[in-house]
Amino acid sequence: MKENNNKLASNSYVNLFINRHQHAPTYSIITHGCQMNEHDSEKIKTLLENMGFEQSDEKLDADFIIFNTCLVRENAEMKVYGQLGALKNLKRENPDMLIAVCGCMMQTGPARDIIREKYPQVDIVFGVNNINSLPYLIDRHLSSGKLVVDIERKDDIDEDIAIKRENEYVGYVNIMTGCNNFCTYCIVPYARGREQSRSVESILSEVKRMVDQGYKDITLLGQNVNSYGKTLENPVTFTELLTKVNDVEGLERLRFLTSHPKDISDELINAMGKLDKVCENIHLPFQAGSNSVLERMHRKYTKESYLEKIEKLKKSVQGITFSTDIIVGFPGETEEDFQDTLDVVRKVGYEQAFTFKYNRRPGTKADLFEDQVDEDVKQDRLERLLDVAYPIFYEKNKSYLGTIQEVLIEGESKNNPEVMTGRTRTFKLVNVKCDKSYIGKLVNTKIVDFNSFALTGEMVD
Ligand code: 5AD
Ligand code: SF4
Repeated sequence: MKENNNKLASNSYVNLFINRHQHAPTYSIITHGCQMNEHDSEKIKTLLENMGFEQSDEKLDADFIIFNTCLVRENAEMKVYGQLGALKNLKRENPDMLIAVCGCMMQTGPARDIIREKYPQVDIVFGVNNINSLPYLIDRHLSSGKLVVDIERKDDIDEDIAIKRENEYVGYVNIMTGCNNFCTYCIVPYARGREQSRSVESILSEVKRMVDQGYKDITLLGQNVNSYGKTLENPVTFTELLTKVNDVEGLERLRFLTSHPKDISDELINAMGKLDKVCENIHLPFQAGSNSVLERMHRKYTKESYLEKIEKLKKSVQGITFSTDIIVGFPGETEEDFQDTLDVVRKVGYEQAFTFKYNRRPGTKADLFEDQVDEDVKQDRLERLLDVAYPIFYEKNKSYLGTIQEVLIEGESKNNPEVMTGRTRTFKLVNVKCDKSYIGKLVNTKIVDFNSFALTGEMVD
């Protein structure tokens, strides 16, 4: 069925386009949101390139533009509507142009109706579980000339196709989808559904295939990777999976994202210290420091148990670095609660933090809480949080000065083609002056400079 779909569409839209324009149609994917969306966009890229589309250099100028959307905060939603509006004229000039919208915004809430009513320039809408249907949906749109919507089918991506990733050396592997946690602020479980784990065999075969192709740094991806394997017919723990992936010959670095503090087990903490490829870095969102806020967020851990896990990680994994997500201004958050958040930031010493003002999401429990915090209080807390966090990031980066760091060179720097960028095992971004031939290589560098966001390294040996 999947193969037929691919053939159908590639025989129609792409060939028709080539006959008419004498060149292959171009595509562009505009991705909002998290790493899960970024990885879904790589799957879409794979399908389109297999059909004969070519990637456009311009994000908002292509024959097929796909918006992969996010629902986590309102501003990501607003951006999509703005960008869709801007395409109206382009579409008038290029009637063969196609526009599709997919991702979390299409799963729940009013966006589908808004698009149907206000954005007639959109041709195709599909959901997070319908990526594989895209070739077939293009075809359906071509034959009907109408908006085609597919969000119902649970049609997982074919796990055995080779995904074309954005980078040739560093990549994500999806190990699970969905989330069962229902944190009260979060829309993800409503958009992405319940937790479902992929089988160990298919994960391992994808990792092996990637390593054969030259991948060196792999991140296992899921909304809550620590609860991996619970829904499998023969349940497996995340630590067991991590150990098996660590054994894949030729792999250099292994990471995972995102972890939930309540599910980080001692078994995993010990394994992280022992498994040689598992990198010395973890993203561990704590969201808020106050126990009463954490309880109302439904996070199921306390400030004390979070800090205890951090201490265990520091002991077990030599040189481990931490990053986190923090929300300020959750309903009912008092100044005293907020001080607990600052206290955690000071105690852990994060290298990076993603900080957010609480944003009401219709459909979530916290949206119904009565004691919403005023916008100016949220803004003030966010600024005070950054005032505490930035000097810590700065000091952390300063501590790398003069050290020798192994960097995996990932590609050219966006600002200067004579400089390459890469990461340390601790996930620190390093700019290195070297030529392109080093892309994909592990090099030793001496850190000679830094700012709050990145380090500068010089090659040694
Ligand atoms: N408001 C603000 N931040 C949110 N996040 C999730 N939902 C919301 C919301 N309603 C943040 C959390 C999460 C990250 C991906 O986004 O910190 O970890
Ligand atoms: Fe959202 Fe909480 Fe699930 Fe993370 S663990 S995706 S914050 S519900």
